[in-house]
Amino acid sequence: MKRLFGLVFLLVAAGVVRAEGVIEPGGKWVDDRGELIQAHGGGILQMGDTYYWFGEDRSKDIAKDHRGVACYSSTDLVHWVFRKRVVDSGRPEGVGEHWVLERPKVFHNEKTGKFVMYMHIDGPPAGSSEEGYILARGGVAVSDTVDGEYKMVGTFRPLGEESRDIGGFVDDDGAAYLIFESRPTGGFFIAKLLEDYLSVEKKVCFIKKPLEGGALVHYEGLYYVIGSKLSGWAPNANVYATAERLEGPWSEFKDLAPREAKTYGSQSTFLLKVVGKEKTTVVFMGDLWKPKELWDSRYFWMPVEIGGGRMGVPAPRAWGIEVGSGVVK
Ligand code: GAL
Repeated sequence: MKRLFGLVFLLVAAGVVRAEGVIEPGGKWVDDRGELIQAHGGGILQMGDTYYWFGEDRSKDIAKDHRGVACYSSTDLVHWVFRKRVVDSGRPEGVGEHWVLERPKVFHNEKTGKFVMYMHIDGPPAGSSEEGYILARGGVAVSDTVDGEYKMVGTFRPLGEESRDIGGFVDDDGAAYLIFESRPTGGFFIAKLLEDYLSVEKKVCFIKKPLEGGALVHYEGLYYVIGSKLSGWAPNANVYATAERLEGPWSEFKDLAPREAKTYGSQSTFLLKVVGKEKTTVVFMGDLWKPKELWDSRYFWMPVEIGGGRMGVPAPRAWGIEVGSGVVK
């Protein structure tokens, strides 16, 4: 019997079989169709009891020169139903070949009822033979339903600044914020969105620390911001800081995990707050990138140790959550 358990554990760890009801960082996560989940650099929007996960669709079958965002839904954070490729976009105006659409984040605007997606749009300018992340723009797309077709409204530079990796955050009062990395400034911005969420209203804070993969959470009266250093697809030691107000002042940045573990090979993309009846659990969502096989990049989700101004990402293990109570199993 002991041997059998050992074998099952090894197979689960190797991603050969999927343990029921648990989240396995780095495992082979498939949707209800049995296909690899395509939600890289993603984020989650909760609508009632349902979680909608949006992220970069890096499937091999996307039309050449198209970029996609896929949407999945779940009520337990373990089983994900593929809803739709909600963005399957050709090149936006003014953008050249070898373009990218990365790190989509979706907000629901209660006043207008619209679903607003922000994303990082990059590449060379149209007509240029250059390659690389040159345009450094944000993109906005809108849909009437959570898993409908998101129509591109346009691309822009928030606050007139270069904008690469973006993150999204909705505060307890419903105000929505964009976090974006801005290379020439050597730091990143937290910007408030307009009431209709369709553009940026104002700068809330500039933090002079070159970080990307930015994400925020508000927990027991403190804001926690996290981010990764600028090392492309290669993992690094992600860090966090805290503040009583989004405007700052922000504390010094500290490591989220032992430095040499390089965030267990992952890069931050989102902080999910599961507010249960018994407990509030915050989940670190990161990507385990495979640059040569982006479609097979894996996901690293772990509930964080958080409180009193400290945050830590524990070493990976299979875990479960009872979303109703918020209790981690
Ligand atoms: C990372 C970034 C990813 C992607 C990658 C490309 O720094 O976080 O979203 O842009 O670089 O090299």
